[in-house]
Amino acid sequence: GNSGRKAQVLCVGLDNSGKSTIINELKPKDTQAEDIVPTIGFTVEKFKSASVNFTVFDMSGQGKYRNLWEHYYREAQGIIFVLDSSDKLRMVVAKEEMELLLKHKEIASRCIPILVFANKMDLRDSISSVQCSKSLELEKIKDKPWHICASNALTGEGLHEGIEWLTDKLR
Ligand code: GTP
Repeated sequence: GNSGRKAQVLCVGLDNSGKSTIINELKPKDTQAEDIVPTIGFTVEKFKSASVNFTVFDMSGQGKYRNLWEHYYREAQGIIFVLDSSDKLRMVVAKEEMELLLKHKEIASRCIPILVFANKMDLRDSISSVQCSKSLELEKIKDKPWHICASNALTGEGLHEGIEWLTDKLR
């Protein structure tokens, strides 16, 4: 039904990290897309967890669209940052994007929860969520609640744990 609270969250992270796949997996089965294609600009999606009706802005991670992210920071009550835990080559790029996010005035000035998915945990090359949190220097975040979960968007593993954490912080 339509009962429950509403929350608007922003999903960011590099291209190919799995943002759209994660959000698709969280949507009700009958509204899931069969094919996920790279996002152009952004798309708006909805799903429900516990009693919270989520509206998610799924931002494109491609370099040329990353400047769009900041325009949606102000409205966001929470951030989902998706990391490809097997993409060692671009770990430093992901860290830079996390840094830019955290120092942006609309984020730095507000105590909003940051949920990180260390996605693609199924891949042989993936590193653990602890290693991912070190790479992103998450322990430096002192003024906001943050949480990292290893996830596999193809099976849904780890996603609900993360969203439950976020739902709890949004109460
Ligand atoms: P942009 O829209 O370009 O920003 O990408 P995105 O972050 O939305 O990535 P998307 O969801 O399109 O996924 C990129 C590719 O990674 C697709 O081929 C997915 O099937 C694949 N993928 C996503 N999550 C996982 C995962 O947990 N494990 C594996 N093995 N592949 C995944």
